[in-house]
Order: sequence, then structure tokens, then C-alpha cells
Amino acid sequence: MARQHLETSRLLGVDFIPVRPVAAAPAARQGAAADPQAPPPPPTVEDMRSASGPLQGQLEFAGSAEAAPPELAATKKGPALEALRARHDKECPHCTTVTDHTQTVFGEGDPDARLMFIGEAPGEEEDRTGRPFVGRAGKKLDEMIKSIGLEREQVYIANILKSRPLGNRTPLQPEVDGCSPFLAEQIRIIRPKVIVALGGPAAKFLLRTSEGITRLRGQWSVYGDGALPIAVLPTFHPAYLLRNYTLDTRKKMWTDMQAVQAALGLD
Ligand code: URA
Repeated sequence: MARQHLETSRLLGVDFIPVRPVAAAPAARQGAAADPQAPPPPPTVEDMRSASGPLQGQLEFAGSAEAAPPELAATKKGPALEALRARHDKECPHCTTVTDHTQTVFGEGDPDARLMFIGEAPGEEEDRTGRPFVGRAGKKLDEMIKSIGLEREQVYIANILKSRPLGNRTPLQPEVDGCSPFLAEQIRIIRPKVIVALGGPAAKFLLRTSEGITRLRGQWSVYGDGALPIAVLPTFHPAYLLRNYTLDTRKKMWTDMQAVQAALGLD
């Protein structure tokens, strides 16, 4: 299927071909026959315990599943996010002091999503509309989401920074330090099964590493804030894909999305 997709995309210049949308995410398949071509599954807590390679040393940071606080009921997550948005806009040490943006971009999607995408910071179009990933990169992200059978409304999309940095530059560390506790709280409320880190800054922040995206991409890793380990798959930022529109980049991104699809039992 991947070969067929690549061939089609080479001919049509399309990166992601939507698969049939799913009404609700089914549970991961138990005991499905192993496919040697299939992308690797996300780590389990057991994997984290006996980790080597990219997962090594992350369990302490990730904490233990046993100690995780109870999850909010699905119906309480939306109101909790709205309350957090109001608190963020009033109290965020970064967003309440910068003046270069038009409005904050809190994030949007299903408050009970199993899949969360996290980018860097709002761009021009996002700053204008107050919505994340609605510019050119956002259109590409929409294609990526559809390629695994989901609609944008079924996932949750947010950024590390909720205000557009001046001139679209990469967020500075003090800006990340000021705003990101609100993202951490957002993740805690939504509690997705999988987070896709879009690009280097998101991957570095979520995984607390200085490793570059080229090395991190396609490797399952773990985000944890004390008691809550969540599988993270770093991939390229869709804007990077648009700038580096090569077969190699498109193939890597396709593979990453396939891995996410398999991890959520959507394949
Ligand atoms: N790039 C990002 O990282 N986030 C957005 O919301 C838009 C573009």
C-alpha cells in the first residue's frame, strides 16, 4: 500500500491520500498478524522500563502509569479546557507581556482526542484567525490527518507558544518557559494516547532533549509530566515538508503517519 501511495503521489504530486474516515476510533487490535513491513508500535510502559536506545533514561521523567491521576470524564474536558484558556489569556507570563501578536491561539479540536498534534507557534494566518495550523502548513496537516482516516475535528491541535513570535522566528527559551506550562496542562486534560511532535522545537520541548529532528524523527519516545507517560512520535513540520518537497521527505512523513495509524488501531 505504501509503495502504491508513493507511486501515486509521485505522479500526482500529492503527499497524503485520505483513507475512509472513521466514525470513532476503535480499540487497538489484539493479536493481529505481524506484518514485517509495518511501522514499529509505540512504546508500552514495560518497554519504557526496560528501555535502551531513544527511550533509555526517560522513565524517570515519564513517571509510572500506576501513579497517574484519574482521567477527567470526557464531558468535563471541554469546560476544563475553556477554563484553562481563560486563565492562560489572563495569566500567561509570556502572552500577557508580548505585544506583537493580534490574538492568542489556544488550540482546537476534540477535547477527548486520542491523537494530539503539537507545533511550534502560530504563524501569520493563525494570528489573524485565532486558530492553529490554518495556513499552508495547516492544509498539509489536514491532508496528513485525513490520510489516517481521521478528520481535523477528531484530533486536537496546539502549539508550544500561543502567541505568534515577531517575524515568525523560532520561539526563544524564556518564551517557551513562560507559555508551555499551559500546554502541559492542556495535555493533562486531553490525555491523548499519542502525540505527534511537528518539527524540532516541539520534539525538543516534549522530549526534553537537544537532539535534532533528523535524529528524533520516526522514533517513538515518551512525554511524561510526572505520572503520565504518553507516546510521542516526532515527525517533520509540515512547513518543512513544503519547503523540502522531495520523495525522501514525503516517504518519511508517510511512514510516520502510518505508524500513528497503527498505534491507534486505525489501520
Ligand atoms: N506552524 C506552527 O508550528 N503552528 C501553527 O499553528 C502554524 C504554523
